[in-house]
Amino acid sequence: MKINKPILVTHPYMPPKETVMKYLDSLWETRWLTNNGPLVQELEKKLKDKLSVDDIVVFANGHLALDSAFRIYGFKEGSEVITTPYTFVSTVNAIEMNGLKPVFCDIKESDCTIDENMIEALITDKTVAICPVHVYGFPCNTEKIEEIAKRHNLKVIYDSAHAFGVRLNGQGIASFGDMSMFSMHATKVFHTVEGGAVAFSQKDLRDKLKTQKNFGLKDKEDAQVAAFNAKMSEMHAAVGLANLESFDKQVNKRKELVNRYIENIEKINGGCKNSKITLFDFNRENVEYNYAYFPVLINDGLGVSRDVLAERLWSEKKINARKYFSPLISDMTFYKKKYGESNTPIAKDISERVLTLPMFYELTLEEVDYITESIKEISR
Ligand SMILES: Cc1ncc(COP(=O)(O)O)c(C=O)c1O
Repeated sequence: MKINKPILVTHPYMPPKETVMKYLDSLWETRWLTNNGPLVQELEKKLKDKLSVDDIVVFANGHLALDSAFRIYGFKEGSEVITTPYTFVSTVNAIEMNGLKPVFCDIKESDCTIDENMIEALITDKTVAICPVHVYGFPCNTEKIEEIAKRHNLKVIYDSAHAFGVRLNGQGIASFGDMSMFSMHATKVFHTVEGGAVAFSQKDLRDKLKTQKNFGLKDKEDAQVAAFNAKMSEMHAAVGLANLESFDKQVNKRKELVNRYIENIEKINGGCKNSKITLFDFNRENVEYNYAYFPVLINDGLGVSRDVLAERLWSEKKINARKYFSPLISDMTFYKKKYGESNTPIAKDISERVLTLPMFYELTLEEVDYITESIKEISR
């Protein structure tokens, strides 16, 4: 197959212009462009239904949504939050920038989420919360995490940036824990260009989150806390409302692509499961996936290292595969200097072998074949 343009690892979905305009039209009349306008309110209502959560507040981006979730609890400076180093730096920055100390727990090789059996050993009298990440949209073991948190009186704030629309045991993924943050960044399965949200059940959290994203102003005149501006605009909400209309269509297409990848990679492995390339499980019966990413692990058996494969896929085949997540957060300059290397051998090993292959709505089955054929060719 000949390709006429590079295949990027992701490609933002664009809703039909007419659908966006259907929502935007009224703005030329009302001039209500931001400050909790009608489109933001409509988006929150629709997200609540779509995600099956009790309540949700939208933000300008996922990072400030997560920062706000920590901030409204007002944890004492120096308190500890257990998370993993196998995530995007935003997770750990939100903890650190709240004056809290990230404590790194290892992950499971099966799905890259926090190893729930290692959490308790990390709890000290300074621990106030756990921040597990539903990496690639793979659900954490919410049941065990909840049980540990309850026993030790800890808050659970999920980083669900990747998990929009995921369901576990029939329940929306954000119905677990105290709060869950979604990223609605342009590269996500569902996006508002830039955007984020916090879902929660406890009633008093709505007011606190809304105050937090609006300079700390509860009513128009009085600041209750010193806070930033993290409001979502009406333009962004309009894109979200339009994208929501095609979310299911998107997920179905992604599922087709994932199945094709799996079929082709199983052939590369030649009937010897995970011998050359380790596939993750997209077939757990109690999970509804969103197929946000397609990560694989490159094993010695493939005969070419992860780094060489990624480099040659790009230089020879114009395929952009990403080492996501590598390096670990605990190996990034700031965190390594401040806290030293983390004792998380599984996370380290995975970060050295992982490659996320292109995954987006417009990718074709033929392009998936081209990608897996290219991997086969390079590894020969
Ligand atoms: C795991 C994780 N957490 C947090 C974020 C931050 O979200 P945003 O880019 O919407 O600020 C991202 C964004 O990619 C992410 O992947």
